[in-house]
Amino acid sequence: MSELNLFSAEQTSELLEMQDARRNFLRFLACSPLVSNATTLGSLAVLVGAIPAAALAQSYDVLRAQTRKVGDVIESPEDALNVMDFEPAAKKALPSAHFGYLATGVDGDDTLRANHEDYSKIRIKVSRLIDARKIDTSMHLLGAQYSSPIFLSPVSSQGAFHAEAEVAVARAAGAKKQHMILSTVGNSSLEDVNKAHGSPVWLQLYPTDDWKVTQALIKRAESNGVPALVLTVDRQGGRNTETLFRLRRLDDRTCVACHAGGFANEVSRKPMFSNIDVSHVTNLYGTGMSWDFVKKLRDSTKMKIFLKGIMTGDDAAKALQVGVDGIFVSNHGGRAEESLQSTIGVLPEVVKAVGGRIPVLVDGGVRRGTDVFKALALGATGVGIGRPYCWGLAAFGEPGVAAVLNILQREFETIMRQVGATSLKQITPTSVINDIAYAKR
Ligand SMILES: Cc1cc2nc3c(=O)[nH]c(=O)nc-3n(C[C@H](O)[C@H](O)[C@H](O)COP(=O)(O)O)c2cc1C
Repeated sequence: MSELNLFSAEQTSELLEMQDARRNFLRFLACSPLVSNATTLGSLAVLVGAIPAAALAQSYDVLRAQTRKVGDVIESPEDALNVMDFEPAAKKALPSAHFGYLATGVDGDDTLRANHEDYSKIRIKVSRLIDARKIDTSMHLLGAQYSSPIFLSPVSSQGAFHAEAEVAVARAAGAKKQHMILSTVGNSSLEDVNKAHGSPVWLQLYPTDDWKVTQALIKRAESNGVPALVLTVDRQGGRNTETLFRLRRLDDRTCVACHAGGFANEVSRKPMFSNIDVSHVTNLYGTGMSWDFVKKLRDSTKMKIFLKGIMTGDDAAKALQVGVDGIFVSNHGGRAEESLQSTIGVLPEVVKAVGGRIPVLVDGGVRRGTDVFKALALGATGVGIGRPYCWGLAAFGEPGVAAVLNILQREFETIMRQVGATSLKQITPTSVINDIAYAKR
């Protein structure tokens, strides 16, 4: 075996890319028992020195990093290689009932799985020899500019994951100028979240079955400068969260202090409802909402209105008719119904029905920067994540959320460069080959 066979061709060329690591690299080679040939070492030194600094490859950091053992579960955000690494860390940090709440889908969790698995049925077409060193990933939505198309979907009760709850999430998202939507049933107040984010976030709306409460929630949002309400329409029919029920059995803590039952005891203690009379509310989700309700809501506020939970082109067309300002393709992260329809699978038919008239957001199963790229290619304006940032929050608080956002952004930028797309506009349907059968309808 020749000395150079120590590295694959790819590794060798990658190594040569990094001027910064030159000294470490040569020291590393010199220490290798297999590299004894001074001529080989000398030639490599010349080559390494000739590489411009701009060609620095992030994969080289591995040579500079201090070696240390990382067990099966990461112990710090820096240990994570991808966002999935945060899930076991969250599991370790949380009581099993709370982890069950975060993890659960419905019935057999098959729709939850389909959301992610369907991304692997879409392939990306790369283009070579395009200078994509400078790329712009900014997303424009309702006149605002965000640094990334990746945004944070509304997740309820984040106090179950970390004491700083939505405030920690808002700090991490705000620091990176990333878009965020607060849940009606968050544990942090809208006021605190806006402050932590640095600009008004959007509010997800569960209107309840009392219109007076809906009006009070609208008023609170308006007085806090909320640009858009996101009406969630996928929780009307009830659900069977088996994974939660199973993991709840492993948790022997007394839960009634926080979960006393009934709307008044449980949901009304959430800050969004403070100083609002909820005595006539009987249900947060099963409110009998119809398209007439959406019209009524539309006529009740100047805030923009998005519908979250749309999964068909027909419903998107109806939404356009009642004058909504945006569609959010979502199945609640596979936690609403076991339809086996993934959000990325139905995205093209919704985008087709909308025809570019209003923005289309999507979430569900997004775990890689390449997933973000694929959703944008199929017509999404922005791409949301739910569980991944909550894993980061549960395991490490704000730094965990920041690390999840960093990793996804880094992966997304990498694939943009490989495709030669220097802005979101250049990510188009021709950038991908979509093999999800039902997406071709
Ligand atoms: C624990 C948990 C709580 C959620 N709470 C809400 C909520 O209050 N309102 C809402 O519209 N969606 C809620 N969602 C759905 C998310 O907004 C989002 O659609 C979903 O998490 C995206 O899928 P992903 O988790 O695979 O990224 C929740 C999701 C999770 C996991």
